[in-house]
Order: sequence, then C-alpha cells, then structure tokens
Amino acid sequence: MDTENLVHSLGIRHIGIIMDGNGRWAKKHGLPRKMGHSKGADTFRNCLNSCIKLGVPCVTFYAFSTENWSRPKEEVDSLMRLFCTFMDEMMKLQSKNIRLRFLGDRKALPDDVRKKMAEAEEMTVNNTGMWCCIALNYGGREEILNAARKISELYHSGKLDLQSLDEERFSSFLYTDGLPYVDLVIRPSGEKRLSNFLIWQAAYAEFVFMDVLWPDFSENDLIDAIVEYGKRDRRFGGV
Ligand code: IPE
Ligand code: IPE
Ligand code: MG
Repeated sequence: MDTENLVHSLGIRHIGIIMDGNGRWAKKHGLPRKMGHSKGADTFRNCLNSCIKLGVPCVTFYAFSTENWSRPKEEVDSLMRLFCTFMDEMMKLQSKNIRLRFLGDRKALPDDVRKKMAEAEEMTVNNTGMWCCIALNYGGREEILNAARKISELYHSGKLDLQSLDEERFSSFLYTDGLPYVDLVIRPSGEKRLSNFLIWQAAYAEFVFMDVLWPDFSENDLIDAIVEYGKRDRRFGGV
C-alpha cells in the first residue's frame, strides 16, 4: 500500500487521538498506573513521528481532560510531572518543523507546567510543518462555555455585533482557532465515547474505535484507522 500518499489522497486535514487505556495496560502487566502513563508517553512519541511520516497536516492528542482532576492526587501529580518532562523534550523537536499548540484551560495547571507550555509553543511559533496539538486540561463543554463568555464580554463592550456571529466566527473563540475541523477521531482501549473531546470540532468526524490499549498502539494501528476512514461515505447531510 502507498501509505505515503494515503492521508493526502483521502483529504484528511485533522486527526484527533484519544490516548486511552494506560491504566488497563499497567494492570495487565502487574505494574502501577503511572508506568502505564510513561509507556503511553513512548507511544505518543512514536505516533507523532508516524503522523509526520504519513503527512498528517494537523493532529490533536487528548492528554488530560477537565474530568481527570477527579483521579487520586498521586496519579494527577505523576501525570503533571510527566507533562513537564515531555515539555522539555518538545523543545528539542524544533528540527521536525512542528507547530505546537496546547488546547485547554491553562489557569488550573501548575505554574511550572504552564511556563513550559508557553516556552514550547513560543519555540515553534515560526515553524511551518505539521500542527501538533495537545489537549491538556481540555474539556469540550468548558471550551464552548469559555467562548460564550468571551463573546458576551465583547458584546457588552460594544465590540461585537451578534448579527455577524456565525459558526466560523464562533469557532475563532475556541482553543482550535485557525485549525481545521476534525475529520477522524481514533480511540483505542475499547471505549466507545468522546469523553468531552473536541465536541464542536468533531461534530462531523468519522469515529474509529479500536480494542488495542494506547501503550500498544502502533503505526500499523494508525494506518488501519486511516484505511477504515477511507471506506466511509461522508455525506454531510447530502445524498
Ligand atoms: C488515558 O489512560 C490517560 C489519561 C486519561 C491521562 P487511562 O489512565 O484513562 O487508562 P484506563 O482507561 O484507566 O485504562
Ligand atoms: C479520556 O479518557 C481523556 C484522555 C484520554 C485524556 P478517560 O479515561 O479519562 O475517559 P473516560 O473516563 O473513560 O470517559
Ligand atoms: Mg481511561
């Protein structure tokens, strides 16, 4: 199969990946959950390279949801530590020409994580290659609510005319401003739900749910999901 041209020929602009199943992977191997997360981080690195290789224009990885704060403090702390290490690494990705963007509410994140996020984004600001978005403290409902708040502030200060507020303008208030809508959402781990991921942007996406746990997710799994996407008939309400 000509995988090099696959993404381009199918017209895929944005893939969303819900990195799920780290905990179950750890349990299966008799390891603590945090080991599942660090193995998941390895998979993330590999998957990012596969996306570059396959010519994906934009990819969003779901790393931490607004609901994940409900996990035990120890697990949340170890995830935050993992994000910090990861951010240091992302800064070395300069050579890959990736444009890095974080999606989500940053206010609730620890200062060191926030600082490193800003630095990593800043370092890639002049890059021209693939968009790599990391959804961190991201929730689709929070994102839409946040947009509604910004819009009403502008309206009340007379800076926004509600008549001009269409879908495109509304989208510009979301964390994904300027990025294409999601064509394909891939969720490993066997769960068949969105879990508050890109609910506006994925309104017309195709969904591919896979039984593999995220730490075991391979380049072949990614290709399989893309091939499956290619078999779907996207009608967008037409005939
Ligand atoms: C996904 O793996 C990672 C995060 C949500 C941060 P999980 O930790 O949800 O793994 P399972 O679902 O418990 O297996
Ligand atoms: C979704 O996975 C969030 C991330 C992968 C970051 P969860 O494991 O938190 O989702 P639920 O609890 O199964 O819906
Ligand atoms: Mg999970």
